[in-house]
Amino acid sequence: MAAPERIAVIGAGLMGHGIAQVFAVAGHTVRVQDPFPEALASLHARVTANLRRLGLPEEAAERITPCAEIADAVDGAAFVFEAAPEDVALKQDLMARITAVAEPSTVIASNTSSMPVAIYAKTARGRERVVGTHFWNPPYLIPLVEVVQGAETSAAVVEATMRLLAAAGKLPVHVRKDVPGFIANRLQHALWREAIALVQDGICDAETVDLCIKNSFGLRLSVMGPLETADLNGLDMILSIHEQILPFIDRTPGPLQILKDKVAAGDLGMKTGRGFLEWTPEQAAAARQALSDHLITALAARSAAAGATASDR
Ligand SMILES: NC(=O)c1ccc[n+]([C@@H]2O[C@H](COP(=O)([O-])OP(=O)(O)OC[C@H]3O[C@@H](n4cnc5c(N)ncnc54)[C@H](O)[C@@H]3O)[C@@H](O)[C@H]2O)c1
Repeated sequence: MAAPERIAVIGAGLMGHGIAQVFAVAGHTVRVQDPFPEALASLHARVTANLRRLGLPEEAAERITPCAEIADAVDGAAFVFEAAPEDVALKQDLMARITAVAEPSTVIASNTSSMPVAIYAKTARGRERVVGTHFWNPPYLIPLVEVVQGAETSAAVVEATMRLLAAAGKLPVHVRKDVPGFIANRLQHALWREAIALVQDGICDAETVDLCIKNSFGLRLSVMGPLETADLNGLDMILSIHEQILPFIDRTPGPLQILKDKVAAGDLGMKTGRGFLEWTPEQAAAARQALSDHLITALAARSAAAGATASDR
C-alpha cells in the first residue's frame, strides 16, 4: 500500500494545529509553518494535550514537524492547508508564495471561513488546484468539512480533496458554487439573524431565545435535519406555515443595529464579560467546558450507534 501523502499546514493557530492533528492521527506526516516562533514552540504541546483528552495515542504528535519557512513545509506535500488569519491581502500574498514553491500537482486548500475561492485564488499559480476546505472548530472533533469548488477549481482536485478528508475520518461535502458562507454558515447565520431580531424587537430576551431552541428543535437537529423534518411534517403544512410567517421574519440585508451597538460599546461576549448575556470568567470557562464535553460524548455515542448498526447487518 502507498504511504499516506505528506500534508503541509500554513498557520499553527487554533485551526491549523487541529487540522495538522487530524492528518497526523490518520497516519500522514505533516509539516506546519508559522512565521511566529511562539506558535510553533507550543504546537506539539497543544496537539498532545488534545490527544490525551480524547484518549488517542500521543505518538501521532511525533508525525508533526514545525517549520519556519513555507518552502520547507510544502516541499513534497501532496496537499497544503492554509489556516492563516482571515485577511484578504494576507491570504492572497500567501497563495502567491505557496504556489510559487509547491509542485504543480500539489493541491492548495484554504480554510477561510468566509471568502469565496475566487478572491484568494486570484494570486495563485495554477488556479485549477485551489480549493476551499472549511473545517469547523475544533477540526479534530467536528466531522463536517465543506469542500468549496471555485469557478476554476478542477473536478479532479475536488474529488481528491474529498477522498483525502473522508479517509482521515472527516465528513466532506461538496459546495458546488463559490458562494460566501458556503452551506452551513449560511444556515447558521440565517438563524442567528432572526435570534438577534427577536431580542432587538423586544419579543423576548436573549436567555429566552436560547431556551426555546435548546428545548425544542435544537434537540432533534443532530439526528434529523430541517428538510427531513419538513418531509416528516408534510410539505403542505410547511407551505401554509411559510405563507403565514415568512413575511414577518427579519430580512435586514446586513448586521442588525443591536449587534453593531454592542460591538461599538465593547460588549463582545465571553471575552469581555458581556455580550447578549453577562459572563463571569468562571461561567465562561464552564460553558466552554460543557460544550466540549457534550461534543465528545455526543460524537462517541454516534460512533457507538453506527458501530452497533453495522454489526447488526
Ligand atoms: N476559529 C474558528 O472557529 C474558525 C473556524 C473555521 C475556519 N476558521 C478560519 O481558519 C483560519 C485561521 O483561523 P484561526 O482561528 O486558526 O486563527 P488563529 O489566529 O488562531 O491562527 C492563525 C495562525 O496564523 C499565523 N499567521 C499569522 N500570519 C501568518 C502568515 N503570514 N503566514 C502563516 N501563518 C501566519 C498566526 O501566527 C497564527 O498562529 C481563518 O481563515 C479563519 O477564518 C476559523
